[in-house]
Amino acid sequence: GRRLYHENVIDHFENPRNVGSFNRNDPDVGTGLVGAPACGDLMSLQIKVDDSGQIIDTRFWTFGCGSAIASSSVASEWIKGKTIEEVLTIKNAEIAKHLRLPPVKLHCSMLAEDAIKSAVRDYKEKQAKANAATEGETVEA
Ligand code: FES
Repeated sequence: GRRLYHENVIDHFENPRNVGSFNRNDPDVGTGLVGAPACGDLMSLQIKVDDSGQIIDTRFWTFGCGSAIASSSVASEWIKGKTIEEVLTIKNAEIAKHLRLPPVKLHCSMLAEDAIKSAVRDYKEKQAKANAATEGETVEA
């Protein structure tokens, strides 16, 4: 019969990279938790960021279809080593193209793009809060 999924999907589905989670309370961790209204699938993508704004490690978990799992696995690989600004340019279309997702599965890759953006936003908000909290505070030895 017609092959429904490209080998890249099968590969990431069978050997997902960077599965798991970091402690979302760590100040150097940004968490993107997003859901797809269309199907109810859920994806968590986390980034660990160093002081220069580079993503040094990633984790994800996905309660969803194979395409969503593959999309988040690819995203978790692509963003590693990049800066939090660079990864904002990653488009779901690139992920979908890499995985040759059929049109009905495009929203699965959209979930990964949303998760990246949401993880970066969470990290930035945390940093802003941390900076605000330390301002005017005396440092205790
Ligand atoms: Fe909803 Fe794939 S079917 S994320």
